[in-house]
Amino acid sequence: MRTLVVDLGDRSYPIHIGNGLISEVNYFKDAIKNKRVIIVTNDTVAPLYLDRLKNTLSDYQVCECILPDGEKFKTLDSFNKIITTMLENSLGRDCTVIALGGGVIGDLAGFAAASYQRGVDFIQVPTTILSQVDSSVGGKTGVNHELGKNMIGAFYQPKTVVIDLNCLKTLPKREISAGLAEVVKYGIIWDYDFFQFLESNISGITELDNKLLEHMIYTCCSIKAEVVHLDEREGGVRALLNLGHTFGHAIESYMGYGVWLHGEAVAAGMVIAANVARLKGFVDATYTERIKSLLEKAGLPVEAPKEMTYKDFLQKMVHDKKVKNGCIRYVIPTQTGKSEVMSDISEDIIVKAIEG
Ligand code: NAD
Ligand code: GLY
Repeated sequence: MRTLVVDLGDRSYPIHIGNGLISEVNYFKDAIKNKRVIIVTNDTVAPLYLDRLKNTLSDYQVCECILPDGEKFKTLDSFNKIITTMLENSLGRDCTVIALGGGVIGDLAGFAAASYQRGVDFIQVPTTILSQVDSSVGGKTGVNHELGKNMIGAFYQPKTVVIDLNCLKTLPKREISAGLAEVVKYGIIWDYDFFQFLESNISGITELDNKLLEHMIYTCCSIKAEVVHLDEREGGVRALLNLGHTFGHAIESYMGYGVWLHGEAVAAGMVIAANVARLKGFVDATYTERIKSLLEKAGLPVEAPKEMTYKDFLQKMVHDKKVKNGCIRYVIPTQTGKSEVMSDISEDIIVKAIEG
């Protein structure tokens, strides 16, 4: 069991990582002010883990909101369902929202917690690799709009994050791979040693070796905690966490939410960003190939969807949250373990990078 802290002054919070943690009330009780709790989850995760978590919280008065599963339900309509359940159960400002599920549930429940009666406490219990290494930490919450991903939301930090590695055992292979895209991202933007660790251990990781997983998730959460500590509201360095996302969000939105998983779209997006880096002469072809090879070994796509043209990308990317003064800003690797945000990339290079 390992714990680390996201240092944000009086909004600091712990991240607990280990096996079987959702069965131990100790990891929850410091973060719950009162007896009233709502667990938000979906109809895939509920049959697997909801009763276990409710047993753990048997001393509390717990209600639940079970949403349909899927990125296409990360909407204002689902947000409204959570709020309605909270009102129907007469929850007050002292209640706690627990997000039990992947990033979709975490983002939705977090946004509901941020908005309900102008803000109530919430706890993240992430159950996918992606949510354990990324979305449950750092306080980005929100929902999609049909014109763009995550276009409605708030920065709102949880009181604690409880990461139970055992939950990953029921995760479908495709979701394991999708989560690994965000893992590889940390190696490219921040920590070259970690990138090499991933290269050496990718097959054990895809088989969910417990020791490797714990090290991997702890390292990712440490990097994310450091980045969020430095730049909570994405005025600077936090934007690096969006490596591959400008292209990736365009793919998700163009293909229809849920057709390409978020992590799959980010993987293809990171390869496009690496291609830009090679075309600009920042990195050599060997490094680009290593990134591609690692993502392929993790079971991820490394090419954009054939049906998407540059124009399709552009039409979607103009809605990206990193757009400033009308310029699209890209996160581009500049050397091993480092990336930078750039806007002066010519159309010609972007077209070539998309074409691979
Ligand atoms: P997800 O929440 O859709 O979960 C993936 C699938 O796995 C779903 O079908 C889910 O029901 C299922 N599942 C979850 N836990 C399971 C388990 N333990 N066993 C079996 N099945 C399980 O997707 P995700 O990849 O976790 O998250 C993607 C979302 O996260 C996107 O909406 C993305 O925008 C968001 N995101 C947010 C941030 C952030 O900082 N807030 C960062 C990255 C991604
Ligand atoms: N996943 C991007 C961020 O948290 O900033």
